[in-house]
Amino acid sequence: MSQREQWSSKLGFILAAAGSAIGLGAIWKFPYIAGQNGGGAFFLIFIIFTLILGLPLLLAEFIIGRSAQDNAVDSYRKIAPGTQWHWVGIIGMVTSFILLSFYSVIGGWIVVYLFKAIVGDLNGLNSDQYAVVFGETISDPMISVFVQLLFILMTIFVVSKGVQKGIERASAIMMPALFILFIILVIRAVTLDGAMEGIKFLLQPDFTKVKSQTILEAMGQSFFTLSVGVSVMVTYSSYLPKTQSLPRSAFSIVGMNIFIVLLAGLAIFPAVFSFNLEPGAGPVLLFNVLPTVFSQIPFGMFFFIAFLVLFLFAALTSAFSMLEIIVSVISKGEPTQRKKWAWIIGLAIFVCGIPSALSFGILGEITLFGKTIFDLADFAVSNVLLPIGSLLIAIFVPVKMKKSTLYEELKRGSSFKKGLFEIWYFLIRFVAPLLILAVMLDVLGVW
Ligand code: PHE
Repeated sequence: MSQREQWSSKLGFILAAAGSAIGLGAIWKFPYIAGQNGGGAFFLIFIIFTLILGLPLLLAEFIIGRSAQDNAVDSYRKIAPGTQWHWVGIIGMVTSFILLSFYSVIGGWIVVYLFKAIVGDLNGLNSDQYAVVFGETISDPMISVFVQLLFILMTIFVVSKGVQKGIERASAIMMPALFILFIILVIRAVTLDGAMEGIKFLLQPDFTKVKSQTILEAMGQSFFTLSVGVSVMVTYSSYLPKTQSLPRSAFSIVGMNIFIVLLAGLAIFPAVFSFNLEPGAGPVLLFNVLPTVFSQIPFGMFFFIAFLVLFLFAALTSAFSMLEIIVSVISKGEPTQRKKWAWIIGLAIFVCGIPSALSFGILGEITLFGKTIFDLADFAVSNVLLPIGSLLIAIFVPVKMKKSTLYEELKRGSSFKKGLFEIWYFLIRFVAPLLILAVMLDVLGVW
């Protein structure tokens, strides 16, 4: 077998892992879920879960990947030979498959908006009209499926080219640019008339709005935005040289993510309240609100187009990781097989995702438990499969790996203190499994 590829630099890994983490989860999903769950309290619970569950789990996935240096399934096989633990990786592959099937729908929405903005279809509209135009566009079956396909084709193209050349290069410029545009956007949003209401909505917790479902959604959201529970981070860190500090990478990814979530919230909610829009509008929220905010900025359309390009890039770098984990297992790291499987799996995901794309139009009436096909796919991933994957990883690491090995891995290349290690170990060994189980059982009404 050929020698495994490695990241060409430390930064390459952080950028790719952060690229996987930062995406639709923080920018599109967070505002709409927070909007539906009452705002501030949701935000706070989300942050807490990110710190006590997401961060420790991210480190756990890094440790698994780097110590095994193999793909998402074989890493578990290597660490626990002769057991069934590799199913954690298989569940991750299935989760990624479903995830990309609906993620690509939203990716397609960015593509379509970008196209409309460039050809000038959005010029001179007001906030209500944006929502109408957008609603009409995504309910059109041809358009929504076509743009979903475009998004998947871009993903396939990059993944088929292989880890280093494909993923690493562009993030170094695109991510910082996205941060800067977001900051401009936030400055405009928080200075709109009536913005204070929106800021309060996001930052002032109102715990009367918290239900079991809210807690589950906040937990699912924290896993979703960090890409944990799917073994994507196992895969990425397996390409990592032994000298890299895992805690430093994990802290910076979590920090960036929380920052982007905050920026997204501060860009959206002040505008929602200022323009009398509906915070609980659902998946379309960001797409209805953003053009309105941009239209309040000089050269707004130009900035909007730039934003959409960067947003598309952020969504793509997450999508790459979803396809990458599946392709790297099936192609066994053989460069000759990679291309073929990237195409086969990518197109299969596209086909399975078509019903999700049509959920905002002709299949909108088809519901189960009051959810459309799109919502069901999202719910299954965010609130069932990611928590289950995370739970299993939290059990696997302390049970199947020696405590001393774990400490060694975390200490490599950094000055990770023993005390911090003990906190991490406690969180992963006791808090994570119990809390995840408790939240899941709570929603099932067990107590
Ligand atoms: N973290 C990604 C986002 O926020 C989604 C993702 C989840 C990617 C799980 C890979 C694995 O958009």
